[in-house]
Amino acid sequence: MKKNFVIIEGDGIGPEVTRQSVRVLRSIAERFGHEFEFTYCLMGADAIDKTGNPLPDETIEACLNCDAVLLGAIGHPKYDNDPSAKIRPEQGLLKLRKSLQLFANIRPINTYPSQHHLSPLKSKNLEEVDFIIFRELTGGIYFGKKELNEEGTRASDECVYSKEEIERVAELAFQYAQKPGRRKKLTLVDKANVLETSRLWRKTIKETAQRYPDVSVDYMFVDNAAMQIILNPKQFDVLLTENMFGDILSDEASVLSGSLGLLPSASVGKGSILFEPIHGSYPQAAGKDIANPLGSVLSAAMMLEYLGMNEEASQIREGVNWTLHNGFVTKDLDPVNFYFTSTIGELISDYVIGKIPGSVKKEYIELRKSTII
Ligand code: IPM
Ligand code: MN
Repeated sequence: MKKNFVIIEGDGIGPEVTRQSVRVLRSIAERFGHEFEFTYCLMGADAIDKTGNPLPDETIEACLNCDAVLLGAIGHPKYDNDPSAKIRPEQGLLKLRKSLQLFANIRPINTYPSQHHLSPLKSKNLEEVDFIIFRELTGGIYFGKKELNEEGTRASDECVYSKEEIERVAELAFQYAQKPGRRKKLTLVDKANVLETSRLWRKTIKETAQRYPDVSVDYMFVDNAAMQIILNPKQFDVLLTENMFGDILSDEASVLSGSLGLLPSASVGKGSILFEPIHGSYPQAAGKDIANPLGSVLSAAMMLEYLGMNEEASQIREGVNWTLHNGFVTKDLDPVNFYFTSTIGELISDYVIGKIPGSVKKEYIELRKSTII
C-alpha cells in the first residue's frame, strides 16, 4: 500500500515521541511491503518561532492532501504564562481541527494489568475497564465568540451548538457502540440541569437513539460523570460529550491507565483524519529522551487501523504490550528503573520487524537504561 502521511512534530516532547512513531511506521512498511511517505509540516510554538504563524497555510494544504496526519504535541510555557499574548501555539491546533473539519475526537481508555499499581485506583476497580470517549471537537465554548472589554475587566466565552453539529458526532458514537465487541451502551455526559446547549444535546441524542434501537442510552451530568469515572469506571462503554467536558474528562480518565503518556486519540470528520497522543507538550521533559512515546505509537496504530491496515495495527499494539509486559518502560511508569524514549521506540520497531524476542539480547537493552540507579 502507498500512503502519504503528514507529520507535525510540534512542541516540547512532540518531536521526540513522534520520531519513535515514524521509526515504527518505517518498520511496518518494511515488514508488510508498504510504501510510506512522510511530509513534515510546522504548527504551534515551533511554527510561530520560524514563521510568525502558529498554522502556516502550507501545513493546512498538506494536511488536506494527505492520507492521514500524525501530530506530536502543541504548547509552550512562554505563552501559558503570558495572558496578553495575541498569538498562541494552541490557535494552530484549533484552526487545524476546524480547517480539516475534524468534528469527532475519539479517545479509547483501557488499562494494562502490568501498570495497575501506578493508578491511584485499586486494581479491582481497574479490571475490565474499556471505554471510549467521543468528544465533539469543533464547536462549543472553544469556538464561540470571545470578548474582553476595553478596560480588561470583563470577559466572556460563548458556548454555541447546533443540532447538526451534535447529530454528526452522535451518529459516529452510536455506530461505534454497535461494533462487535462493544457493549452497545452510550452515555451522554452534559449539564442539562443548567445549560441550554446541554438540553439541546439531550433532545438531539434522544432523537438519534431512535435510529439505533439496539443501543441503550443513559444520561449523566458532568459533575457526576467526573466522580463515576473514578468510582466505577467499568460502567462506561461509549461516553459521548461536548468539546470542553470531553477535554477535561479524558485527562481525568487517563489516570486509570496509570499515565497520561499511554493514551492515543483519533480525530475524524468530513474526510481528513488526524492522530495524536492525548498528552500535552510536557516542556519540562523536552529534549531529555525520557518522555513516554507509547501515546504517539498507539496513535500511529489507530491511524493504520483507520486506513484498513488491521494486521499492521495489531502488530504495533503487540509490540507495545511486549515492552510493557517486560518492564521496558519510560520514567513516568517507573521513575527509578526506566528506559529512554528512543530505546522504547527501537524495541517496538525491532518487534514489528520480527527481531524480538529471538535476537535481541536483554544485556544489550540494559545498556541503554537510565544511569540514575
Ligand atoms: C487536547 C488539548 C488541546 C485541547 C489544547 C492543546 C488546545 O488539551 O487536545 O486535549 O484543549 O483540545
Ligand atoms: Mn486536553
